[in-house]
Amino acid sequence: MGYKTLCFGFSCVLLAYFVYSPVPENIEEPWKVRFMDALIKVTSLVATLFENIGLMKYEEVFLTASAIHLTKPISDENITVIDTNFSDIPVRLYLPKGTSEKQRSAIIFIHGGAFVLGSCKMSAYDDLNRWTANKLDAVVLGIDYRLAPQYQFPAALEDCVFVIKFFLQDKVLAEYGVDPSRICIMGDSSGGTLVATVTQLLQNDPEFKDRIKAQALIYPGLQSLDTFLPSHREYEHGPILPREMAIKLASLYVTEDKALPQAILRNEHMPPESRHLFKFVNWSDFLPEKYKKNHVYTEPILGNLNASYPALVDSRLSPLLVNDSQLQCLPLTYILTCEHDPIRDDSLIYITRLRNVGVRVTHDHIEEGIHGALSFTRAPVFLHLGLRIRDKYISWLEENL
Ligand SMILES: *[C@@H]1O[C@H](CO)[C@@H](O)[C@H](O)[C@H]1NC(C)=O
Ligand SMILES: *[C@@H]1O[C@H](CO)[C@@H](O)[C@H](O)[C@H]1NC(C)=O
Ligand SMILES: *[C@@H]1O[C@H](CO)[C@@H](O)[C@H](O)[C@H]1NC(C)=O
Ligand SMILES: *[C@@H]1O[C@H](CO)[C@@H](O)[C@H](O)[C@H]1NC(C)=O
Ligand SMILES: *[C@@H]1O[C@H](CO)[C@@H](O)[C@H](O)[C@H]1NC(C)=O
Repeated sequence: MGYKTLCFGFSCVLLAYFVYSPVPENIEEPWKVRFMDALIKVTSLVATLFENIGLMKYEEVFLTASAIHLTKPISDENITVIDTNFSDIPVRLYLPKGTSEKQRSAIIFIHGGAFVLGSCKMSAYDDLNRWTANKLDAVVLGIDYRLAPQYQFPAALEDCVFVIKFFLQDKVLAEYGVDPSRICIMGDSSGGTLVATVTQLLQNDPEFKDRIKAQALIYPGLQSLDTFLPSHREYEHGPILPREMAIKLASLYVTEDKALPQAILRNEHMPPESRHLFKFVNWSDFLPEKYKKNHVYTEPILGNLNASYPALVDSRLSPLLVNDSQLQCLPLTYILTCEHDPIRDDSLIYITRLRNVGVRVTHDHIEEGIHGALSFTRAPVFLHLGLRIRDKYISWLEENL
């Protein structure tokens, strides 16, 4: 009885969100986006409820909802799919079956999920990587890095670095027939954060400099200093990525202490001595005029968080924090942004900063796009936008890798 009542209650809330939450006018497939948005908001509501009554932690509710989409390594007529470990870290490899005269290019894929959710084995990512391997006749390597809150900063990054350094060994590249001069690292959302950081670390490491030909970032998060950029303000309530939910999940990468997400929500989380870092993320300097609209720059309040988290001032969490001389040496870069995305401006700032120091950047902006669409190509919602993003990024790779 209690269970049925509960289900009925949730269905009513879902329906109410579905009917009443508005989605932007110019968005394509608006009913599907509305449904997905409602589903996410209800999950967040249920997660908050369950956490408050001590049934499950906030992130565990999301984890339960996303785990059902994991796939097995199934080879098909074109691609051999293998699950293995590199340096003790689980990876999934996609190897084209056909014989090739020359060595193949390789794409290293780092998935999104706010450092807390997701896997390269999720069906949408499995489809994407299989498609990429087939379309580009390339070797694709997905990394199943460790997730927060069990493994906190910099665990995810360390796993990615270990796997990539393992893969870049001559004997490993030779084993998979990979051309060492045609390797790209790619990732979406928090996977994009990891790509940006890994690329910076490798480029600034004499042993690995120029080993990566290109980086591709799909709506990445690139800083956590200022959470009140124009895009955070405009898309505070979503669609898809409400500011509060994003902050609650992503802050678990740093700590489980609830004081941190609360401070981040107020944009009062940075330590007192960190003012000099804000010049790297100052949207008033780096955002193109068009996106500033009539927003007024307000300086975040510093020193209101008692606990101290070194991660907050670390460029390995916020890749925008490096200086120009470290940006200068970055390889060919592809960045895709969606308009309806609270973390849109991280990318726009990075693009300005990269171009200012002469890095070659291709920028695709999807005016009617939403955050996360690349992973909405499987049940419960199939968005054509996901395939459009995939095709844009693949055609860039076709020309540039
Ligand atoms: C294999 O590749 C061919 C040619 O690209 C394609 O038409 C076919 O659908 C692929 N098979 C699978 C299972 O993806
Ligand atoms: C890969 O490593 C994990 C732990 O890191 C281990 O549990 C698993 O058995 C390993 N798998 C293989 C195929 O070696
Ligand atoms: C941000 O930029 C604006 C305009 O250039 C400037 O007035 C402000 O002092 C800057 N703030 C910080 C913290 O760098
Ligand atoms: C921070 O520390 C001060 C002094 O130790 C204390 O008065 C204040 O309540 C603390 N604030 C929080 C949010 O814990
Ligand atoms: C940039 O940062 C690096 C590493 O922190 C430092 O070694 C270098 O001196 C800095 N360069 C400039 C111009 O500030």
